[in-house]
Formats: sequence, C-alpha cells, structure tokens
Amino acid sequence: MSETDFKIVAYCCRYCSYAAADLAGVLRLNYPAETRIVQIPCTGRLDMLEVLHTFEHGADGVMVAGCLEGDCHFQEGNLNARRRVEHIKQIMLQIGLEPERIEMFNLSSAMARQFADAATSMTQQVIDLGPNPLRVADRDHVDQQTDKTVG
Ligand code: FES
Repeated sequence: MSETDFKIVAYCCRYCSYAAADLAGVLRLNYPAETRIVQIPCTGRLDMLEVLHTFEHGADGVMVAGCLEGDCHFQEGNLNARRRVEHIKQIMLQIGLEPERIEMFNLSSAMARQFADAATSMTQQVIDLGPNPLRVADRDHVDQQTDKTVG
C-alpha cells in the first residue's frame, strides 16, 4: 500500500477550522492530499456512530477540527466534541483499532499554517500505524469473495 492510498477524514467546523483549511488552500500551503475534508456546522454535532462508520468504511484516520476552546459559536460544542473523541478512542481500543487514529484539534479561521501542520502530522501518525485493519480485513473478505469460482 502506498502512502497515497491512505485516507484521512477531517471533520471541520464551518466557522473556524474549515475556514482555516480554505485559507491554507488560498495561500497554497501544502498539506497531504490524503486529507478528505467534511464540513460540519460545529464539532458539537459530531456523531460518534458516524465516525465509527467512517472507520468501518475504510478511513485510516480521522481528524476532528473545531474552534479554539472558548470560541465555539455554539458555546460548548467543541468541548463536547473533545469528550466524544475521547469516548471514541475508548471504543476503538475495545474493537482493536489504535486510538491514535483519531485526534481532536482546535483552530481559529486564521490558523491556515496550523491546519496544514495538523493535517501533515496526523497523516504521518496514521501512516506510521499502517492501514486501518478493518479495511484490510474487508479487502481480504472481498478478495475471498471474488476468488470464489462459481459453477
Ligand atoms: Fe466551531 Fe462549535 S462552531 S466548534
């Protein structure tokens, strides 16, 4: 598996981190192409089941990027998100996924450089862990299914 086959899904809140990612693009700052950005209204809307499905469907890593603490437009959304990320890490441990595959970041809309750095460090962290074992298992399952001879 080459490095470009890795998928990192970045859930970014509309008000700050998504704007930071956008600004990183405008400023032509480099960050890994493996980063797939999903805009959400606030990290407080982060759905734990959706994140687990994201891993189930093949993401190798997940970034959750919200506003700076104290700056959430919905008061405590980012604080709730941090608690959820910690809870997701516990669930991941129980199902055999490395908890380092998900991390929470807090960024303002002006922090384009920090967004690029966060995406770069997250991608490297996930590459060091290797591919998502659920994805490998799924690929093996699919290979087994397609290897079957019918008739
Ligand atoms: Fe950005 Fe809540 S609005 S984390």
